[in-house]
Amino acid sequence: MEVIIQPDSEQASQLAARLVKKIIMEKDRPVLGLPTGNTPLLLYRYLVEMHRKEGLNFSRVVTFNLDEYVGLSPDHPASFHYFMWKHLFSQVNIRPENVHIPDGLASDMEAHCRQYEEEIKVAGGLDIQILGIGTDGHIGFNEPTSSLSSRTRIKTLTEQTRKENATFFGAEENVPYHAITMGIGTILEAKICLLLAFGKKKARAIAQAIEGPVTSMVTASALQFHPRAIILLDEEAASELRLVNYYQWVYEHKPEWQKF
Ligand code: F6R
Repeated sequence: MEVIIQPDSEQASQLAARLVKKIIMEKDRPVLGLPTGNTPLLLYRYLVEMHRKEGLNFSRVVTFNLDEYVGLSPDHPASFHYFMWKHLFSQVNIRPENVHIPDGLASDMEAHCRQYEEEIKVAGGLDIQILGIGTDGHIGFNEPTSSLSSRTRIKTLTEQTRKENATFFGAEENVPYHAITMGIGTILEAKICLLLAFGKKKARAIAQAIEGPVTSMVTASALQFHPRAIILLDEEAASELRLVNYYQWVYEHKPEWQKF
């Protein structure tokens, strides 16, 4: 794992945007795995800015979102469809047919999940999977005790996750109980996994995921198996890590050719 600690979320998100830009520019048909939530908002803002000011071209970009709530239509303001179009897709030149987000209203959920996996494969696999982390250590909606080899499927959300997402729905009782999510096995097949975490409330989950044992109780810890997992943190999210000085030393001495 490569752990990069930046003073704040702005600088961390700028660095993330530079890495995503590099992938978009290097590949003929870049395939991005994308999260929603508060964490990637700044990254999406920087990508939109790069599109507007530097002409970053999204016309060849293919995207797959990590998850979607079951039972929400794409125009529901709390749906991840709505979120993605609002914060990124409507502001760049992406082709709508290249956007993939699980369908929370699919009539045959199992078939839909299988099809989603197939579509990722046909696209050539994910060049990068961008991730946030829940306070319980989840990535995607792979809640504690999810199989570490799981594929795209339906998961029941924990009470903690439903509480934390209540603000998007007005009240906790409006938060769906189920979501479709890529599995841990799906995520681990991405060529690069880039996990972002900001703020003190993520510090414990981050310490467990990076320096704790690999366990399905903290599904982000499965990233320890990934050959190219990059963890981009602000200082607060890094505050419970034991090897902070080492991570900073490694980053300062990174060979020029490895930088982005
Ligand atoms: C969202 C997702 C979740 C979030 C996580 C953190 O698509 O997959 O794993 O990344 O719940 O959410 P925020 O960023 O709102 O703290």
